[in-house]
Amino acid sequence: MTSLLGLALCAAVVQTAPPDRPLPVLRHLYAENCARCHGLDGSARSPEGTRLKGLDFTSARDMEGRTDQEMAQAIASGLFFGLRMPAFRSTFSETEIRTLIREVLRKARRGRPLDEPAER
Ligand code: HEC
Repeated sequence: MTSLLGLALCAAVVQTAPPDRPLPVLRHLYAENCARCHGLDGSARSPEGTRLKGLDFTSARDMEGRTDQEMAQAIASGLFFGLRMPAFRSTFSETEIRTLIREVLRKARRGRPLDEPAER
């Protein structure tokens, strides 16, 4: 009986919660939407990334200087930086952007593709 109640509660939560996609999907969306400028490993060492001078997510020094809030703002609204980074507010929910920053961008390591799970 308790488990039935649990199930009913879960169903209610699933129905009202926004459609935030799980981390592996967000990793895939990074590869699709961001890698052409920021590089598959986040280092922006791709030919396009070097040209655009995108932020190097694998550089602790670059990342320490930025708050999650600033980065979330940039991802949602885009940036004009000589060249434009597009706005992604219609691609990701706010929660997804936070997860992307915390679990993907902030864990970027040079040479490790961001569409693969980070080692713990
Ligand atoms: C068209 C190229 C392009 C694409 C696509 C792109 N970016 Fe950027 N991004 C840039 C450039 C250029 C900068 C500016 C570099 C800087 O701030 O030094 C930047 C900066 C950023 C910053 C730093 C913002 C700040 O100043 O705090 C974050 C975070 C970021 N991008 C995340 C993403 C994510 C996530 C995606 C995919 C959803 C993405 N970008 C897609 C070009 C791009």
